[in-house]
Amino acid sequence: MRRGLRPLLALALAIALLGAFAAGLAAVLDTPRARPGAPRAERLFVALCSECHGADGRGSWRAALFLIRPGDLTEPSRTGRESDQYLADVIRHGGAPLGRPGMPAFGAALKDEDIRELVTYLRQLARAPGQSP
Ligand code: HEC
Repeated sequence: MRRGLRPLLALALAIALLGAFAAGLAAVLDTPRARPGAPRAERLFVALCSECHGADGRGSWRAALFLIRPGDLTEPSRTGRESDQYLADVIRHGGAPLGRPGMPAFGAALKDEDIRELVTYLRQLARAPGQSP
């Protein structure tokens, strides 16, 4: 190989590596989006809750990054034992009044109807296929 070509080649390689790294980072950091045509409850969950709970309810690594521990909402022993009223209260008033301080309140952002739909959605998450009952 000619002497003058080597630095150029190294530069091109470095640029390619940097591009691959940036693309990988973008893919990982991309905000989850609801499937097209998804029901309203799912879109609400993905938009408002997935930041911490993950699109599938199992908890997002982003939250873990900030030492937030939202737990696993698909775990039936967790939300399955709670009443609809309790779940609605957690969403409306946040976790703080119930001794779960990490969970923010959404009462100001959501209508009662939205909260009811989210509770139903949480029940579906806990019953997701492939889960032990
Ligand atoms: C800022 C991060 C964050 C967001 C956004 C968030 N949560 Fe949470 N959530 C948490 C954390 C942290 C906990 C666990 C609190 C604890 O156990 O102390 C939690 C707990 C819960 C629980 C379980 C309560 C229990 O008793 O086990 C439910 C249900 C819940 N969240 C639903 C939702 C819903 C629905 C949304 C969207 C409307 C949402 N969360 C948005 C952080 C978040």
